[in-house]
Amino acid sequence: MSPSQVSRRARHETGPRTILVYHRDPAEAAAYARLIRPHRGIVVRTCSTPDEAAPFIENAEILYGWNVPAPLLARAPRLRWFQNMGAGVERVLVPELPASVTVTRTPGIFSPWMAEYTLAWCLWVTQRMDLFRAQQRAREWKQVDPLRLAGLTLCVVGLGDIGRTIARAAQSLGMVVEGVSRSARRIPRVQRVHRVSDRRRALARADFVVLTVPLTEATRGLIGARELEAMKPDAWLVNIARGPIVDEGALVAALRSRRIGGAVLDVFDTEPLPPDHPLWSLDNVVVTPHISGPSTPAEIGPIFADNLRRYLAGRSLRHTVDRRRGY
Ligand code: OXD
Repeated sequence: MSPSQVSRRARHETGPRTILVYHRDPAEAAAYARLIRPHRGIVVRTCSTPDEAAPFIENAEILYGWNVPAPLLARAPRLRWFQNMGAGVERVLVPELPASVTVTRTPGIFSPWMAEYTLAWCLWVTQRMDLFRAQQRAREWKQVDPLRLAGLTLCVVGLGDIGRTIARAAQSLGMVVEGVSRSARRIPRVQRVHRVSDRRRALARADFVVLTVPLTEATRGLIGARELEAMKPDAWLVNIARGPIVDEGALVAALRSRRIGGAVLDVFDTEPLPPDHPLWSLDNVVVTPHISGPSTPAEIGPIFADNLRRYLAGRSLRHTVDRRRGY
């Protein structure tokens, strides 16, 4: 019996089959819910806090959410399917999530955004945008040549959907792209793929390093003091993955001592980044508030709708997460 058939049978003794849409921002939650086509016998509930979710979570068969608090997951005995609205799933794959729940993600949505983010900030460095804006404010006319991005090396750490899209975009601008992956399998447009165990060698060759790996037990602390030490002194690190992939203390030390050129950081150990955090004030750091890959209802809605049709027809879902691997 498929998960939906099992739950249909269980329905006799319980309330209506429920899709719970959970998003901290009520307007966003409503926007996601509006895009769900009505299906007979299914009710859609929208909530933005654990209190709002409390009356519905017991009956929720499908959770369509972002940043759903873990304790709520422990109170969802009828949950069969969790559709994540974000790119990373580590906050969904928590012990509170019943083992029988299928988790799905939305590949292909975040990668174009993140490619633009990465290349925009690489160009910000090479076109010396900060310098020229400062000179403009000072009404100063002083010529300093920009650098060419073409010919510089970008090392993409993590060659999943996001990493490959960044690689393609970087290569189209003439960058030399190298990568690091678990399998070290060859990838079109990536000149050389290094094993994770060879990552220091890969980092040493790069002018820019972008991190796109999921956060798992294997990637936590992947970039520590020794990796930062291996980088070129003028290389920049771009982290659009997760804060804990980098040892934040080692990063602050490397940036302070100018051991590396700088860092563009969209993710941090603690978010929002605390006001007294040293990263705010370093002039070789760019801080952005976790916006490199925004979730938009218009892009995610069609993926959910397709999977919902499949779920209701008892067919297997697309884009399922391998819970053992963690992505
Ligand atoms: C994420 C996201 O997973 O913003 O970080 O989607």
